[in-house]
Formats: sequence, C-alpha cells, structure tokens
Amino acid sequence: TTGTGVWGLHSDLISIWPRSRSNEILGLKLPSEPVLNANTVCLTLPGLTRRQLEVCVRNPDVTASAIQGIQIAIHECQHQFRDQRWNCSSLETRNKIPYESIIFSRGFRESAFAYAIAAAGVVHAVSNACALGKLHACSCDQRRRGDEEAFRQKLQRLQLEAMNRGKGMVHGVHLEHMPAEAAGLQDSWDWGGCSPDVDYGEKFSKDFLDSRETYRDIHSRMRLHNNRVGRQVVMENMRRKCKCHGTSGSCQLKTCWQVTPEFRLVGSLLKARFSGATLIRPHNRNGGQMEPGQLRHRRRAGISDLIYFEKSPDFCEREPAVDSVGTQGRLCNKSSPGMDNCESLCCGRGHNILRQTRSERCHCKFHWCCFVACEQCRQTEWVSVCK
Ligand SMILES: *[C@@H]1O[C@H](CO)[C@@H](O)[C@H](O)[C@H]1NC(C)=O
Ligand SMILES: *[C@@H]1O[C@H](CO)[C@@H](O)[C@H](O)[C@H]1NC(C)=O
Repeated sequence: TTGTGVWGLHSDLISIWPRSRSNEILGLKLPSEPVLNANTVCLTLPGLTRRQLEVCVRNPDVTASAIQGIQIAIHECQHQFRDQRWNCSSLETRNKIPYESIIFSRGFRESAFAYAIAAAGVVHAVSNACALGKLHACSCDQRRRGDEEAFRQKLQRLQLEAMNRGKGMVHGVHLEHMPAEAAGLQDSWDWGGCSPDVDYGEKFSKDFLDSRETYRDIHSRMRLHNNRVGRQVVMENMRRKCKCHGTSGSCQLKTCWQVTPEFRLVGSLLKARFSGATLIRPHNRNGGQMEPGQLRHRRRAGISDLIYFEKSPDFCEREPAVDSVGTQGRLCNKSSPGMDNCESLCCGRGHNILRQTRSERCHCKFHWCCFVACEQCRQTEWVSVCK
C-alpha cells in the first residue's frame, strides 16, 4: 500500500469503476472491512485540528463514519447547487476534510449552508453506522428498543390463535409519514427492531465539529449556530417505519423503529433555509472586538434559520479570495427559468454553442468504509457554454 491510510487506498475508486461490475471488482480489490484505528484514520487525515485529532484517536471508527457523512453532504451540496454560480465543487477534497476550503472561512450564505449540511451529514452517517453495528461506541438506540421477550410471547400467542382458526401469519412493513415522536397516540404499537442512535450521532457531531471553534467571535457564533441548524433538520425529520404482524390484512401487533430522513430531503430543506437565511451583523462598540452576546440582528433570526454575516459576491469572475472560480466554461440552459439560465449564469458575457462529449461522475455510491464509487457517464450533445 501507499501508506496513505483508508482514505488514500480507496479514493482511486472515484470515477473508475463501472457500476455494473462494481461489486465483483470491489470484492476482489478491497479488504472487506478495513482496519479503522488511529493510525489508518487519524494520522493520515490532513486538516484536523488538535481537538479533532484527540476526538479521532479516541474513536477512529466513528470519525471515519463522520468523514464519510461529510463527503455525502458535499455530494448533496453539489446536487442542490448544480444550477448556481457557486456550485459547491470547491468543497470536494479527496483525502482530507474540507474545512480548509475558503468558503468555510467566510461568512457568506453559502458558508452557512456548507456548515449546516456537513453537520447534518455527520449526524446522519454516524447514527446509521451505529444501527448497522459498524461502530464500537454505539449500537441501536437504547431508548427506542422493544422488550424482545414480551414481543416473542405475544407473537407466539397470535400464531397459535391463527393456527387454530386455520389461517397464516403475515408480516408487512410500511413507512409512516409522520414525525416519529408525534404519533404515539392513535394506535398501539411497540418499539421493535433497531433505530439509529441519533442522540449519539448528534453528540459526536458536536464533539467533532463544534470543537473547531475556539474563539467566540462572529465567525464562530455563526458556525456553531448553523451546525446546530443542520443537526436539527435531521433530528426533526426522523420517521417511523412499522411492521404489522397478524393474520392477512390485520395489524394485531405492530412494532416500529425510527429511520433517518433520506439525505436528499435534508439537502432540500436546508436549501430552502439557504434562501431564507438571515443576515446578522456584529455590534461593533469596542473597536471591533467581539464579545459574546454582541450580535445585533438586522431582522430577528429564528432558532432554525441559517445565519450569515457577509454579503456574498456574485461569483461571476475568478476570485480565489472569495472561493469564486467564475462561471466561464459552465454549461447553461437558454430556456431555463432558473439560475442556470445563460443570461444569469454567464453574468451577461454571452455563451457559445458547442458540440461536446462530456464525461462526468454519476450514480455515485458511498461504501462502508471509506470510499465513493462512481460510474462514468458519457454524453455527446449540443451545449451552451458561458464565455
Ligand atoms: C461546477 O463548477 C465547476 C467550475 O466552474 C465546473 O467545472 C463543474 O462542472 C460544475 N459542476 C456542475 C455540476 O455543473
Ligand atoms: C433547460 O431548461 C428547460 C426548462 O426548465 C428544461 O425543460 C430542459 O430540460 C433544460 N435543458 C437541459 C439540457 O437541461
């Protein structure tokens, strides 16, 4: 091996493996369960702060899962911003955590979104890895665990009754489209199966991400707030999945477990909050020195609003200091009513029409642990490209 740890080993897979054969190939080339210890995870991962390194050394496997969550978050960010001038592509860092990207050091709306979605990604990935039994420090949510023995007895009784009536037992799964905690009252059910430990995921996300903030300046307040908003979106959108046990068509015995929301939903909800984000400004009385509690809100920021304190640039031209690569060369759409309309995306510079064969990553899948395998999609078509 190259000595680059778990990340380096698998990062080559990005954009190399055709999906149809991936399992077979991955099965041959990869150790099925990589060894996740401090040496393979923490010491090979550039960009960790000292506090984060400590967290990592204590729980290298959870950290690996957290990093994977951040990668999923960045992938989702790219999806949500695919038609915007700033399209999140700068957050992609193969073998390191992305917090050194310029956008993370600024106070733009885009920065607010990036913090929130990364924090959400960590909760999501860690709590699901807990439920899959991948991590040492956590497992299924203990607060949402059924009494297995009682369930077994009830089920046996139902089975006997069904047999006596000459019927068979049926077990059906359905998703209840209601918040996991709000239900409860309308019919009776028991916790059963394995729910992701979101409390552990939330705690780890705090330990790992919030610990980057050592000062209480406006940057840091903004980051902590947006991290919390991201986590909240995952926690507030947990759903219940239930299984009915009983004779056909009945639901004599119902067991439920929690599931995390699809990450696509988390991305869309945060994107809506991006649009409604609140500008805050420092109250600058003592010579620019920020004190806790000195944020004066231009408009009252709700607890679940994303907040930012710097007006975004237009991202039209290349300007590295604000994480703008410019929109020259971007594909635009002449008939789109949205932000990817050529007029808007090309910032009035106009566009060329070209016949182009493009090859881009698509159908990406995140594999435990710690790599992304994507397919290459090739397309030849007429496209409009910003001048
Ligand atoms: C995002 O922008 C970069 C830089 O302009 C570009 O290379 C990339 O193709 C864009 N991604 C998408 C999905 O449009
Ligand atoms: C351009 O935008 C229109 C209107 O939204 C849409 O129907 C069309 O599929 C888009 N074309 C491309 C190439 O994305």
